[in-house]
Formats: sequence, C-alpha cells, structure tokens
Amino acid sequence: TRLDMELAAIEKGGYDHFMLKEIFEQPQTIYDCLRGRLDAGKGKVILSGIDQYAQQIMNAQRIIILACGTSWHAGLVAEYIIEELCRIPVEVEYASEFRYRNPIIHKGDVIVAISQSGETADTLVAIENAKEQGAIILGIVNVVGSSISRKSHAGAYTHAGPEIGVASTKAFTAQLTVLTMVALKIAHDKGSVSTERYMHLCQELAAIPEKVELVLEKADEVKALAEKYKDASDALYLGRGYNFPIALEGALKLKEISYIHAEGYPAAEMKHGPIALVTETLPVVFVATKDSYHEKVVSNMQEIKARKGKVIALITEGDTVSAAIADDIFELPQADEIVAPIISTIPLQLLAYYIGVAKGYDVDKPRNLAKSVTVE
Ligand code: G6P
Repeated sequence: TRLDMELAAIEKGGYDHFMLKEIFEQPQTIYDCLRGRLDAGKGKVILSGIDQYAQQIMNAQRIIILACGTSWHAGLVAEYIIEELCRIPVEVEYASEFRYRNPIIHKGDVIVAISQSGETADTLVAIENAKEQGAIILGIVNVVGSSISRKSHAGAYTHAGPEIGVASTKAFTAQLTVLTMVALKIAHDKGSVSTERYMHLCQELAAIPEKVELVLEKADEVKALAEKYKDASDALYLGRGYNFPIALEGALKLKEISYIHAEGYPAAEMKHGPIALVTETLPVVFVATKDSYHEKVVSNMQEIKARKGKVIALITEGDTVSAAIADDIFELPQADEIVAPIISTIPLQLLAYYIGVAKGYDVDKPRNLAKSVTVE
C-alpha cells in the first residue's frame, strides 16, 4: 500500500536503499562502537565484557576465530592484527568446516566467534561444541541478546545498530573496530606492544570516523567507476597483508550485490592461477594503500598492466607511483596499516552498490541470499 511505501521511505532516511543508508552511517556507527570504550588521550581501552577473561586471553596458547561470510573476513584481518600486536598464534576458520572435523581444542584455548546476527547456525553450534571441550568463548556480536552472545563467556558488542541490507556493510567495519580494540587491550596488558606504538594506534583508531566521512564525501567518484566497469563479466580483487582480507570482502560484495563473478586473492598468489584470466577486459581492483607491503603490491600492479589488465587502485593520497601505473585510482586518507582496512572497505562497498543499482538489481535483498543463515 501507499502507507507501507511511505513508511519504508522514512525508514531509509532519505536514501534510496538500506544498503546505501548503512554505508553512509559508518562514521556514526564506528564512533558509537568506540564511544565510552576508547580514550585515545589517556591511552585507555575499556571493554567491560571481556575484563573478567582478559588474563586468560592474554595467556592463551592460541586463539581460534570462527565465523562465516563477511564476518569471516573480519576474522582474517583480526588474525593479522592480533598476531602482530599480541604475538599470540591465531587460526581463522569457517565455522562450518571447524565444527564437522573433530577439531583439536585444548582447555584454555580462546575461541572468538564473530557474527552480525548472533544466530548463524554453524557458528553457534561450533562454539557450543568448543565450550563443552573447555574453550573460552569470546563473542563479537551485533545483535544484543542473540544466541551467540548468550552462549559466550565474554564478549564485546559491535553496536552498529540494526543492519537491514542483506549484504553486511556497517556491521563489518564495526567488527574490525571492536577487534582492533580487543587486540590493543590485550597487547597493552601483555606488554607485547611499545607504549609509543600503542598510544599512536589508539589515536589512529579514534580518527577513523572522520576519515571514513572523507571517503564518503567522494562517493560520486566511485559511482563514476561503477558506470565505467558495470558491464564486466568478471573481476579480480587483490591485496596483501592487512588488505588481503579486504580484497576478499570487496569481491564478495560485488558477487552478492551486482552478480558479477569476482575473486579475491592475495596479490602475490595471483601468479599461481588467476593471472591466466587477465586480458584487457578484466578489471583488477588493487587495495594498495601505503603500508609495509606497498612496494610488493606495486610490482604486482605492474605485472597486471604488462598483461593489459585494467587496474583500479585504492591508494593512499599522494601516492604518485601507483597513480602512474593504474588506469583508475581512488585516493584514501593516510592511516596506520593496522586501521587502514576499515577505511579501504568503504569504496569497495560503494562500488558493489552502485554497480548493482546501475544493473537494476534489488541491492537490499539480493537473490538467493539470507540475512541470517539459521540452517546448515
Ligand atoms: C549471511 C549474510 C552475510 C553474513 C553471513 C554471516 O550470509 O548474508 O552478510 O556475513 O551470513 O552472518 P553473521 O550474522 O554470522 O555475521
């Protein structure tokens, strides 16, 4: 009815779709996630939901992260961050694979379950099994009071608010934000990070909402890229290090929303297969911000250009070297490599969104997908 349509329009807050609204909410949701927890000036991270277990997490022999879909990508980023800052070995597993293979769990192992809905069946059952075997379960969940949050010993909510778009956007950046805070807290308590680096990272994290805002102000640039590349039949997304999981997430968003076949790969691994796909019609999206891997990524970009692929590069502003190689660029604000993935994600969400819309698809409810998968 007309009333329903008007109500729906009000809920979308003036945006055409929930997905776009949720993408644009990210400066606020990330801020909400940090609020009351991160005091960058004093160098304090307060996560009351994990305090009781902080000691055990700090002393854990290993951490296993379990998740599905986009949440699994957040887990991969967390693996890089936790290993770097906390020096604790981390494994990231698809919950569905973990639960069915009689996994080895030792008493005191820490299992981090990441889930927007808190109801994903595979993740839920995986932590139930692990709990019985003596693992400590830490839940990183968006929906307050959901099953996974209730089954966890400890946890931190992502506080991104309700996410309506089926493909996850704001919940993902909130997951990255919380996981970074968890890593910072453990690393600081443990003394595995220098005070100087810790203080710097606290400040870098606090500056994220503003930087995300700057990226969103340039949404029209991404829209123009979407126009240019919307008819591609395939796409490749490449990144290294902290940005490798962001390449995976970018490819997933494109598949989900625009139904274009896309693959994400670690940029160096591309030589072992995907490079065979490169022709002048293949768009290759590089997540190539300035970090410790940058020089290597630039040479991967050159390899793609040498085979006439089209390079779309997300680069740090002022990076003239990458800009000279790429066919198209999108500049991102400078940020420490630990927090940069939160920012690099934004243009990739927008790219999938604008291509999906240009193709006339229902971006809020992509075909065959469900917001929360409560069956196996
Ligand atoms: C579904 C959704 C994805 C989500 C995944 C995991 O596939 O469409 O957006 O990433 O489930 O969901 P969870 O709620 O556990 O994060």
